[in-house]
Amino acid sequence: MPIITLAEATYTLQRNHLVAIPTETVYGLAGNGFHEGAVQKIFEWKKRPLFNPLILHIKNEEYLNEVAQDIPEVAHELAKCFWPGPLTLILKKRSHVPDIVTAGQSTVAVRIPHHEMTLALLHLLDFPLAAPSANPFGSISPTAAAHVEKYFGERGLGILDGGVCDQGLESTIIGFNHDKPILYRYGSLASEEIEKITGPLHIHHRNDSSPVAPGMLSRHYAPNTTTYLSDHIPELIQSFDGLKIGLLLFAKPFTNFPVHHQEILSPSGQLNEAARNLYAAMHRLDLSESDVIIAERFPNTGLGITINDKLERATKK
Ligand code: TXA
Ligand code: MG
Repeated sequence: MPIITLAEATYTLQRNHLVAIPTETVYGLAGNGFHEGAVQKIFEWKKRPLFNPLILHIKNEEYLNEVAQDIPEVAHELAKCFWPGPLTLILKKRSHVPDIVTAGQSTVAVRIPHHEMTLALLHLLDFPLAAPSANPFGSISPTAAAHVEKYFGERGLGILDGGVCDQGLESTIIGFNHDKPILYRYGSLASEEIEKITGPLHIHHRNDSSPVAPGMLSRHYAPNTTTYLSDHIPELIQSFDGLKIGLLLFAKPFTNFPVHHQEILSPSGQLNEAARNLYAAMHRLDLSESDVIIAERFPNTGLGITINDKLERATKK
C-alpha cells in the first residue's frame, strides 16, 4: 500500500499533486485549494461533476479570514463550539478562492478537521486543502486507508494512514440565509447538537431555488449490490427466496432464517458506534457476494437520522 509520511505528503501537495488524508469523518482526496490545476485533478480522479463544489480544510479559525468574508456571528459561535470537528460552514467566499472549488458559486464550504495528523499537515502548508471524500463519485465513502487503497491504489495515490475514522460519517453542513442557519446535509454532528445553539434549523431541500447541494444528489454512498432499506425484514427476506441475502442491522442479529452474511453495527445499540462502523460494513457486504443487501431502518433520532439519510441514498434506484 502506498502509505506515505507527513514529509512526503507535504512535498507532494506543495507540487500540486494529490494525497489521501485521514479526518475524523472519512478519508479525503486532498489537493492545494488555491491551485486550479490541483483542484481540477480532484474532479478528474473522482469523476465528479464540476457543478458539485468542494470543502476547504483549514488549520485554525484565524485562517477562516483567508478564505471567507462577512461571516455571520452565529457562524463564529458554531465554529467556537464545534471546531476542530465534523461541521462544515458555507460562507461568502473571498475572491482569490478559485471558482473551480466552489463550482462558480459566491459561497465556499470550510471546516477544521479533527485529526492530529491532518492538522499537523495543514500547519506545514501555506494553503488550505480542498478535499472531497476519497472515493469515486457515488460510491461508498472510505473510513480506513485500505478503502482508499481499493479505490485509488492502482493510480499510485499516496495515503497518510491515520487509522480508522473516529466518526465514520461525513461532516454536517450548515449554510446561512441572511445570517439564518440552514441545514444542508445531515452528518456526523447530530442536528440536535447544533440546534442547542441556533434554535430550530431550517432544512435545505434540493428543489429550493439554490443550486445542487451536498450529498444531496439523491443516489449516493451506494454499494454495487442492490440494496433495500426496510422496517419489515422477515417479509422482505421471504420475498427473496433462493437468493443470497446480506443484512445490515443495528444491534440484534437475525436468527429466524439462515442468511448469507450479517453485519451488526453496534451490539450494544449505540448510534455513534453504528455510525463509525456503517461504511466499513457496507464495503464488506459489497464484497460478500450477496445477491441483495437488506438494511434495517434506524431509530429516527440523533445520528439515526443521518444513518437513515445515507441508507436512503444508498438504496435509491
Ligand atoms: O466529512 C466531510 O465533509 C468529508 C471530509 C473529507 O472532510 N468531505 C466530504 O466532501 O464529504 P464531499 O465533497 O464528499 O462533500 C462536500 C459537499 C458536496 O456534496 C457539496 O455539494 C457541498 O459539500 N458543498 C460544498 N460547497 C458548497 C457550497 N458553496 N454550497 C453548497 N454546498 C456546498
Ligand atoms: Mg462524498
